[in-house]
Amino acid sequence: MKVSASFLSSKNIPKDLLTLDKTDVDFIHVDIMDGKFVPNKTMPFSEMKNIYKFTSKRLEVHLMVSDPIDYIKKYAELNTECIIIHVEIDDPTKSLELIKKYSIKAGLAIKPNTPISDLVPYLPYIDEILVMSVEPGAGGQSFIENSEDRINEVRDLLNEYKIKALINVDGGINDTTVKKCYNCDIVTSGSFVVCSSDFQEKISSLR
Ligand code: DX5
Ligand code: ZN
Repeated sequence: MKVSASFLSSKNIPKDLLTLDKTDVDFIHVDIMDGKFVPNKTMPFSEMKNIYKFTSKRLEVHLMVSDPIDYIKKYAELNTECIIIHVEIDDPTKSLELIKKYSIKAGLAIKPNTPISDLVPYLPYIDEILVMSVEPGAGGQSFIENSEDRINEVRDLLNEYKIKALINVDGGINDTTVKKCYNCDIVTSGSFVVCSSDFQEKISSLR
């Protein structure tokens, strides 16, 4: 199981990214919010792009935005492994095709109340599914219990359609809730790691 670290709840982003860089975390999860798809808004790309100064890890960019096209063009320039858009937006196919043009992995996130079957039309385009185990929009929330069933439903769907996409989970992941994510290939954890005094210990406990 790979581990991705979100710095959304970080109080000192440069310092925490430098600390994460010394751990064996697999990816840095970059949460982007536009104030429309979710109420909160994150810093503009002109500031966010500076994270390259503080991390050599590959990035997973989670776009919680209504219209991802311009964001994809910008974030594709960074050291990006995967760009994740939401299945709930208008015309996800257009964005997924654009991501693939940059030879970056295309991810599709799904909110807690969206039926898993909504993923079906996009399965041929995607390399990763991000199961949201909290409502997107903020760090530090509690893992929604039925997320375990939803992850397992995604695993069944991928088996049924013979699709090799990775399953990732995002929201409220700690050393207890991670036990419900046995069907995931990647787990994303924010406050559990970056609000602790020993990042490596927390990352190891997730593995
Ligand atoms: C929620 C974000 C998550 C969040 C994870 O909108 O997409 O990535 O930062 O943080 P924790 O682990 O604190 O729930
Ligand atoms: Zn996220």
